Amino acid sequence: MEKRDIYPVDEKTAERAWIDRTQYEQMYRRSIESPDAFWADQLDQLDWATRPTKMNESSFKRDEVVIRWFADGELNAAYNCIDRHLDERADQVAILWEGDDPSESKRITYRELHAAVGKLANGLKSLGVSRGDTVTLYMPMIPEAAYAMLACARIGAVHSVVFGGFSPDALAGRIKDSGSKLVITADQSLRGGKRVPLKDNVDDALTRAGTDCVERVLVVQRGGDPIDWQEKDLWYHELVEGQSSECAVETMNAEDPLFILYTSGSTGTPKGLKHTTGGYLLFAAMTHRYVFDYHDGDIYWCAADVGWITGHTYIVYGPLANGATTLMFEGVPSYPDHGRLGEVIDKYGVNILYTSPTMVRALMAHGDQVLSTSRRDSLRLLGSVGEPINPEAWHWFHRVVGNGRCPIVDTWWQTESGGHLITALPGAIDLKPGSATLPFFGVEPALLDPEGRELEGAASGNLVIKRSWPGQARTIWGDHERFVTTYFSTYEGVYVSGDGCRRDEDGYYWITGRIDDVLNVSGHRLGTAEIESSLVAHEAVAEAAVVGYPHEVKGQGIYVYVTLNDDTAPSDELKRALIDWVRRDIGPIAKPDVIQWAPGLPKTRSGKIMRRILRKIAAGELDGLGDTSTLADPGVVDELIGSRGR
Ligand code: WT7
Repeated sequence: MEKRDIYPVDEKTAERAWIDRTQYEQMYRRSIESPDAFWADQLDQLDWATRPTKMNESSFKRDEVVIRWFADGELNAAYNCIDRHLDERADQVAILWEGDDPSESKRITYRELHAAVGKLANGLKSLGVSRGDTVTLYMPMIPEAAYAMLACARIGAVHSVVFGGFSPDALAGRIKDSGSKLVITADQSLRGGKRVPLKDNVDDALTRAGTDCVERVLVVQRGGDPIDWQEKDLWYHELVEGQSSECAVETMNAEDPLFILYTSGSTGTPKGLKHTTGGYLLFAAMTHRYVFDYHDGDIYWCAADVGWITGHTYIVYGPLANGATTLMFEGVPSYPDHGRLGEVIDKYGVNILYTSPTMVRALMAHGDQVLSTSRRDSLRLLGSVGEPINPEAWHWFHRVVGNGRCPIVDTWWQTESGGHLITALPGAIDLKPGSATLPFFGVEPALLDPEGRELEGAASGNLVIKRSWPGQARTIWGDHERFVTTYFSTYEGVYVSGDGCRRDEDGYYWITGRIDDVLNVSGHRLGTAEIESSLVAHEAVAEAAVVGYPHEVKGQGIYVYVTLNDDTAPSDELKRALIDWVRRDIGPIAKPDVIQWAPGLPKTRSGKIMRRILRKIAAGELDGLGDTSTLADPGVVDELIGSRGR
C-alpha cells in the first residue's frame, strides 16, 4: 500500500474559489452527460460577433477524423484579449514585463496594449499581410512578442512562433512548412546575460532552400549589437512609427486558424499543429480562470517562454482574455543568481506562479537557503507543467517556494490539447503530490491496454481521450493524414495522447511519461528520430540510437549510442564535436548529455533497434534487461554494458 500523502482543499482557498467540490462534481457530470448545454453556458466567457448555435461536431472515427467546435460562431481573439476590456480596465496593467537585467521592467496597460497592437497590425497590413497569411515569430521574451501574436490575430493572419533557442536549420524547416510571408524577429535576445543572435539566425535560415516564401523580415531592436542588413529587412520601430493605433478587427469564423505551433513527434519532422480561434480561446480563458482560480486584481506569472504552447495559452491568450495582469519574464531564474525567481515574486507581489518541475529541481539542488533573499508572502497558488513532478520536488515546491501555504495544481496537457486536460482545481480537488488528479470539464480520459481494451477502476495503461474538447488541435498543418495516423489510428475512436498513466483507487490520474519515442527534456519535447537523423548526417557517424535516461534536474537526459564509420577512431574530441553538431543543428535543448561509442546496436533479426535494452543500459538497470534471445547478435549487449559511460 502506498502512503496516503494527501493535501485536502483548505477552507480559505475553497471559499474564494470559482469552483468548489460540489460544483466540480455537478459541472463535470453535466459536461459529460449534457455537453451541448454545458458548452453553451460557457460561451459567455468570450465576446462573440456571432454567437454560435453549434457546439461539438467532432468525430474521432478513423476514416472521418474531424475536430470542429462552435462552427457557426464568429469572433476575434485580439478583440477578446484587448478591446473588450477597455471600458472597465483600460488603465489596469495587462503585461508586467521583467527584463533579463533586474533593472529593466515595463508596465503595459490595456490601453497601451491596444495602441501597440493596433499600430503593428496596421504596419503588417501596410506590408501586405492579410487574413489567412502565415507569419513566423522568432523572438525574445519581450512585449513585442505578445504584440506580434495579437496583431496577427487582429488582422486574421496565422502566427507560427518558433522558440528562440532553435537553430537556423530548425527555423528554416518551420518557415518553409508554414509558408510564412513575413518573419518577425529581434537583433539579439538576452537571456541570463547571454546574447543569442536571432537576426543572424534568420539570415542563415533564409539562405536555405524553400524559404523564399518570406518577403520581409521585421526586426525589433533589443540587444543593440550591429547586425547585417538585407534587402528584405525592416526595423520594427520604423514600421510602427506614425501608424494609427486604431485598427479594425477582422471578424473570424470560430474555426479559422489562430496559430500553428510545431512540436516533435516520435518520427519525422516536427508537426505544425493547427489551433483555431473560437474553441482554443474559450478553452484557454476557461482553464486559466478555473485552474488558477484567477480573480480580478490577481498578479499572475507563468514562467514559460512564448515559444511553447504554455506561453501561448497561459502567458498570452488565457490571461489576456480574462483581463488579467500577466507577467512576462525575459530572463532565467538563475540569473543574476538563484534568488531571482523569489525576488521577481516579491517585486510584483505575484499571487499565482506557474512553472515546471525542472525549474523546481534546479532550485532545490541549491538547498532551502536558495530563496532566502525573498519572502514570497504574496503567493497564493502554485502550478506545475511539462512533465510528471516527482513527490520530492512537489514537497519542496510546496514547503520552500510556497512557504507551506499554497496549493499546487499539477496540470497535464500537451501542445495538441491547447489547454489543461487533467488537473486539480484548487478549491475543489484534494491534492496528491505527483498526481495530475482529475479531468477538467468536458474531458473524458480512459486507459487502454495494448490491445485497445478499456481498463476499469485502478489500472495502468495508455492514456487516451474519448471525445473532443474545444482547445484540441484541428489538424497538422498541410498533413491531415499524418494527424489521423499519429493520434487516431492506434485505437479506434479515441485520441491517443502518447502518455502512459496509472489511475488509482480514488480515480486520480498519475502520468508516467511518454510511451513513444519522444523524450521530455526539461519539459520540452524532442523526438529521438530528430536527434538521430542529425547525428547520422555527420561524416563520422554510421549509425545512432537515442534514448532518454533519468536525469536529476532535467527529468530526462539525452543518451546517445553512436556507431562510427570504419575509418574513424573514437576520441573525446569527437564526442565534443558531435555534441556541438547537434546543438548547432537543432538547438541547445537537444544537446546530448552522454555519448557512448557502440561498435554495434542491439537489433532484432528484422533490423529493428531494441530501444528497450538501450534505455535500460543508459539508466544503469543492468539486471533486468529482459529477453535478449530475439536479437540478431546478443553479444552486442554485453559489449555495450562493458563499455558503458566511456
Ligand atoms: C507532454 C506534452 C503542456 C505544455 C508543456 C509541454 C508531458 C506535460 C505534464 C504533467 C506529467 C506532463 C506529457 C505530455 N507533460 N505536463 N503535468 N504531468 N506529464 O507540452 O511539449 O506538448 O509536451 O508533456 O508527456 O504528453 P508538450
